[in-house]
Amino acid sequence: MGRADMTVAQPASPHSAGARGGKASGLAALPQSQVSIVKVAIWLLAMLPFVRLLYLGSTSQFGANPLEFVTRSTGTWTLVMLCVTLAVTPLRRLTGWNWLVRMRRMLGLFAFFYGLQHFLLWIGVDRGFDLAYMLKDVAKRPFITVGFTAFVLMAPLALTSTSGMVRRLGGRRWQALHKAVYAIAVLAILHYWWHKAGKNDFGEVSIYAAVVFVLLGLRLWWRWRPAAR
Ligand code: HEM
Repeated sequence: MGRADMTVAQPASPHSAGARGGKASGLAALPQSQVSIVKVAIWLLAMLPFVRLLYLGSTSQFGANPLEFVTRSTGTWTLVMLCVTLAVTPLRRLTGWNWLVRMRRMLGLFAFFYGLQHFLLWIGVDRGFDLAYMLKDVAKRPFITVGFTAFVLMAPLALTSTSGMVRRLGGRRWQALHKAVYAIAVLAILHYWWHKAGKNDFGEVSIYAAVVFVLLGLRLWWRWRPAAR
C-alpha cells in the first residue's frame, strides 16, 4: 500500500494523485478548477452537522438530555467521517478518479474535528475537567477506554497531516504512523459496539461495522490476492 492509502489526514501531494492509475473515465481527469469546486462542496457538506448543532443549540432543541444528544451526534459524525476517509482509496481504485485522493486530508481533518468536539464534551462537560475523575472513567468503563485510545491515536495523525510534516518525518516514518488509521477505525467500532451492548441494540452499529469491514477487507484483498504477488 502506498503512503496515500493510509491516512486520516492525508496531504494532497502530487506524488499521490494519479500514482496508481486506474480505469480511465471523463471524471478521471477533472481539471483543477472543478477539483476546487468539489472540495468546497465537500467542505460545506461536512460542516452541516456542526451548523445543525449550533442551530439546535441556539434554539434550545437538544431535548431532555443535551449532553447525551451532542455527544451522540458528534460521535456519530466522527465515525461517518472516518468511514468516508477510508472509502477514498477503494473508490479511487474502482473508479479511476484519482483526484479523490486530494479530498482525503480534508475528510480526515473533519473526522478529527468532530472527534475533538466529542472528546471535549466528555472531558469538559461530562467530567468537568477533573483529571482524576476522567482517568477513573477511562480505567473503569471499557467503552470509554477504547474510545479514548482511538482519539489519542487520531491526534498525531491530524497534527502530522501537513505537507511540511510529511517532509519532516520522511515518507517511511510518516507512512508507518498513518497506518494507525486502521486501528482507529476498528477501535471506533468497538467503542460504539460496547456502548450499545448494554442496551442490546446492535442495529446501527452493525451497519458501520460492515462498512469498516468491507473498506479494510478490500485493502487486504488488494494487498494479498495472488495476482498482486
Ligand atoms: C475515534 C474516536 C471516537 C468515535 C468514532 C466515537 C464514536 C461514538 C459513537 C458512534 C457513539 C454512539 C452514538 C450513539 O449512541 O448514537 C459514541 C458514544 C459515546 N462516546 Fe465516543 N467516539 C470516539 C471517541 C470517544 C472518546 C475519546 C470519548 C471519551 C473519552 C468518547 C465518549 C463517548 C461517550 C461518553 C458516549 C456515550 C454518549 C451517551 O450515550 O450519552 N468517545 N461515540
